[in-house]
Amino acid sequence: MSNKMWGGRFSERPDAIMEEINVSIDVDRHLYAQDIAASKAHAAMLAAQGIITAVDAKNIAKGLDTILSEIAKGSFDFKRALEDIHMNVENRLGELIGPAAGRLHTARSRNDQVATDFRLYVRDTIDELDAALAAFQGALVERAIEHAATVMPGFTHLQTAQPVTFGHHLLAYVEMASRDRGRFADARKRLNESPLGAAALAGTSFPIDREATARALGFERPMANSLDAVSDRDFVLETLSAAAIAAVHLSRFAEEIVIWTSPLVGLVRLSDKFTTGSSIMPQKRNPDAAELVRAKTGRVIGALTALLIVMKGLPLAYQKDMQEDKEGAMEALSALSLAVRAMTGMVGDLTPDDARMKVAAGGGYATATDLADWLVRTLKMPFRDAHHVTGRIVALASKEGVALHELPLKAMREVEPKITAEVFNVLSVEASVKSRTSFGGTAPKNVLAQAKGWLKRLEKEQKFD
Ligand code: ARG
Repeated sequence: MSNKMWGGRFSERPDAIMEEINVSIDVDRHLYAQDIAASKAHAAMLAAQGIITAVDAKNIAKGLDTILSEIAKGSFDFKRALEDIHMNVENRLGELIGPAAGRLHTARSRNDQVATDFRLYVRDTIDELDAALAAFQGALVERAIEHAATVMPGFTHLQTAQPVTFGHHLLAYVEMASRDRGRFADARKRLNESPLGAAALAGTSFPIDREATARALGFERPMANSLDAVSDRDFVLETLSAAAIAAVHLSRFAEEIVIWTSPLVGLVRLSDKFTTGSSIMPQKRNPDAAELVRAKTGRVIGALTALLIVMKGLPLAYQKDMQEDKEGAMEALSALSLAVRAMTGMVGDLTPDDARMKVAAGGGYATATDLADWLVRTLKMPFRDAHHVTGRIVALASKEGVALHELPLKAMREVEPKITAEVFNVLSVEASVKSRTSFGGTAPKNVLAQAKGWLKRLEKEQKFD
């Protein structure tokens, strides 16, 4: 049997290997809801424009609804010989309503159909990811309020640098997630135009109403150029770019959790809910979820790279290469969604070891900058000189094997005679973080104010959703 959809010109069945490389139903079956919604909008428009009869349109809509419920129920028989979701749906429509099904494809092509379906799918996915990222932010903010004053070591070069608060550290990820959401929102705005009615590439001679189908599908407007409409995949690339950056953010956080929970560091503990044991080493508590979040980043970056490479050599307009846009993107976006949800779970689960964090925060002479700042403020020393004096005091403390606040005043005065006992007020880790009141700084009262501000923003957003 030749293919029903273009049987006129073809008398032989495709070679088995041709069919195997050509079919996309295993992937594009996930577009069934969008495909049916777009077909319903198209049929209604065709009837409104007098291109098909109202009776045919009604039967088409009814048949499409039946197909929707068959697929949702799992009773639909997807046929590989019918290649993709568009032909599977249309073929079944024919079985259900007879020859009127053949009128649905008037004034459209699978080229504008697939572009429309996938835009709708990516739009839905962006909305789901946005909600997941908002929940992630909510979890971070909650813990930041709880730990606004919990002191931990801040690192640069992974060397103890200056004390910060755990709440401040968590809020850094709230900012990152906010930019991620901004990038997705931006991509969504640009993707929200309708390719439907561009037909194969050149438009159509039928008096269609592209504004109407765009409106019915929640698009802002029809795409203005039919060649662009069927051949553009920027919307996938932009979404995957935003996804890749978001995945990198999650991966950095996951890496921190892996470091923090290592027994060598021991700043944070994850419960049984977010760790696994070892089949041979009974003492182990492995942060597998964090490790997998870190690893899933590879798929997201991979999907972006793969599609950029698919697109880079394609002349206008539609090329079959573009069929390769879906599998990687779908997989990457669902991996990201899982990673966001896993991180949200870990944020709620983790317990910082406050005492150990405080000790670690003071280790490595982390308040040396506070000493230098005190010399500048109180003794009016130029910062560069203060830096040098502090360096000598740190060397002295290190030689004695004591912390800065444990070094006797007498010893400090040997380096700089003008130092007074008042200096001890700034050498504790609490005093250090408390003093960092500059905008965006780590002072607990800043952190609390920022966290509460975020909470309000997130709550307000939810109300307007
Ligand atoms: N399965 C195809 C895709 O995903 C649908 C469009 C096919 N168009 C065509 N002219 N063969 O790209």
